[in-house]
Amino acid sequence: MGKVVFITGATSGFGRAAARKFASEGWALVITGRREERLKELAEELCESVPVHYQTLDVRSKEDVDSLVKSLPESFKKITCLVNNAGLALSPNPAQTVDIQDWHTMIDTNVTGLVNVTHALLPTLIEVGKGASIINVGSIAGQWPYPGSHVYGATKAFVKQFSYNLRCDLLGTGVRVTDLAPGIAETEFTLVRTKGDQAASDALYANTQALTAEDIADTMFYLATLPAHMCVNRLEVMPTAQAWNPFAIYRES
Ligand SMILES: NC(=O)c1ccc[n+]([C@@H]2O[C@H](COP(=O)([O-])OP(=O)(O)OC[C@H]3O[C@@H](n4cnc5c(N)ncnc54)[C@H](OP(=O)(O)O)[C@@H]3O)[C@@H](O)[C@H]2O)c1
Repeated sequence: MGKVVFITGATSGFGRAAARKFASEGWALVITGRREERLKELAEELCESVPVHYQTLDVRSKEDVDSLVKSLPESFKKITCLVNNAGLALSPNPAQTVDIQDWHTMIDTNVTGLVNVTHALLPTLIEVGKGASIINVGSIAGQWPYPGSHVYGATKAFVKQFSYNLRCDLLGTGVRVTDLAPGIAETEFTLVRTKGDQAASDALYANTQALTAEDIADTMFYLATLPAHMCVNRLEVMPTAQAWNPFAIYRES
């Protein structure tokens, strides 16, 4: 069997597009996510061209992550690329109005979940060594503050610094680590963030050209197939139609 990519959050958006991209290039897939029906559909779509192993997984559970990794079929055990993609934003409202549970869910998924999966797969990635990679999906929100980003942006700042720090410890192993930080991209991300408000999601993406899931999947594949001596530490990708605003200034009326 050829190279194997392990993708978290493969049921939608970037993760699902990444599964299709890596499969189209002949990589075997381990695809995970919480929605079994979607994993099954994706596996059925792709298993005619490449070997696919799918398994439901909530990355927040360290026990489930460890048991999935331990029980991988022999031919899927040698992971060349880990795409740490599962994640979410909740509550685009001001911090002072947010339900604390939403903050915990973001920390548990974007931080705890990402370290659970990384910890479980580090031994196999190190065994593969030269040419192996970890692609951590961060966000421009990990670098740039904006209203309503509160804990979401902070979790993605964690992803950035964790990625840099991993690079230090993995020096000499051959394993690369990238913080891939997308800007606005049209997926189910805003539907999740607004707890199912389709109109709000449509409004955000209206009359502009956001990134597509396929843009990010292509970028992931590019990172995973760079020559083994090259590592992109952080890659921030925005659509051309997105840029920064001036600083906000509060004025008394
Ligand atoms: N879209 C953007 O504008 C944007 C920009 C920058 C960064 N990002 C980041 O990109 C990543 C992918 O987001 P997306 O835009 O593709 O959104 P999406 O379409 O909502 O996909 C999110 C994926 O994460 C999975 N997921 C969520 N919680 C999970 C959990 N506890 N355990 C396992 N899987 C979980 C979901 O699967 P299940 O629900 O089936 O578990 C889904 O497959 C996220 O880390 C997000 O923060 C997105």
